[in-house]
Amino acid sequence: MVKRLCCCGWLVFSSCLLLAALVSSKHHGNPANDLVDIINNNRTAHKLSKLNDSPGLGCIALQYAEFCKGNCSRNGTIKCAPSEDDFTEVFAPNCGVELPTIGTITGQIVSCHSKYLEPSLAFQHVLVGDNKALSILRNRSHNEVGVGMVGVHKGPFFWSLLFSSGKTNSTFVLENRGTGIQQKKGCYSGSSIPCSAGRKITADSVTFNHVVITGFLCVHLVQQLQLNLL
Ligand SMILES: *[C@@H]1O[C@H](CO)[C@@H](O)[C@H](O)[C@H]1NC(C)=O
Ligand SMILES: *[C@@H]1O[C@H](CO)[C@@H](O)[C@H](O)[C@H]1NC(C)=O
Ligand SMILES: *[C@@H]1O[C@H](CO)[C@@H](O)[C@H](O)[C@H]1NC(C)=O
Ligand SMILES: *[C@@H]1O[C@H](CO)[C@@H](O)[C@H](O)[C@H]1NC(C)=O
Ligand SMILES: *[C@@H]1O[C@H](CO)[C@@H](O)[C@H](O)[C@H]1NC(C)=O
Repeated sequence: MVKRLCCCGWLVFSSCLLLAALVSSKHHGNPANDLVDIINNNRTAHKLSKLNDSPGLGCIALQYAEFCKGNCSRNGTIKCAPSEDDFTEVFAPNCGVELPTIGTITGQIVSCHSKYLEPSLAFQHVLVGDNKALSILRNRSHNEVGVGMVGVHKGPFFWSLLFSSGKTNSTFVLENRGTGIQQKKGCYSGSSIPCSAGRKITADSVTFNHVVITGFLCVHLVQQLQLNLL
């Protein structure tokens, strides 16, 4: 009897571990990439072309958001206009974008909110809340898009959308065979680095946390099961 219970316990325990592994593997999103999908769905619903997701432009958008951090007004507007030199002398080098490949920026939207919002809410309420932003989104000159986002600790959150007429994969080329320079803060689109609410999450720590937590829950469950049965 005891032996059968034990066996049953181990079965529950190991299925729990399997579940833990599955749960953790589902957690590798990047909200900047979700925003690119939302932008493209909105454009294609209005019979406009889908934009190419450029990691180089995404990283520059992150620099833009970082540059504009500060002075977030209550209505989400930011007074911030980086110069062309900021793009070529600061943003691009910070990302490791090869200078001769910098393309023409055909549109830019930068906004902020008192806190982080999910991508669809940020799109509707913060980024594309007025007709001016909507006309930028629906401009036919764009070929590619980059999204950057970064938050201030316990402060407002910043989003930046950049559009370019650049030709797919010959503009905003990242050095180091497309990896560029690793960013310490924020998220950007086109990147394979998992990111949550503007913070990098190291895959290892997330997986570890999930496994540990689920593991503890499972042990508890198994103990309950045995207590009830004995
Ligand atoms: C914030 O606003 C102040 C006053 O208008 C200005 O001096 C400062 O440069 C602004 N900061 C940024 C990052 O735009
Ligand atoms: C947003 O707020 C700023 C400063 O508080 C103001 O100058 C601007 O006119 C406002 N914009 C809109 C669209 O309400
Ligand atoms: C589209 O963007 C281009 C480049 O920024 C600009 O010259 C043009 O006026 C925009 N078109 C519309 C309809 O806003
Ligand atoms: C596209 O986005 C605008 C602004 O948020 C919204 O008003 C419109 O309904 C969206 N269109 C579709 C098809 O989702
Ligand atoms: C774009 O990238 C793809 C895949 O890396 C490559 O096959 C293609 O030749 C590139 N196109 C241009 C115009 O460089």
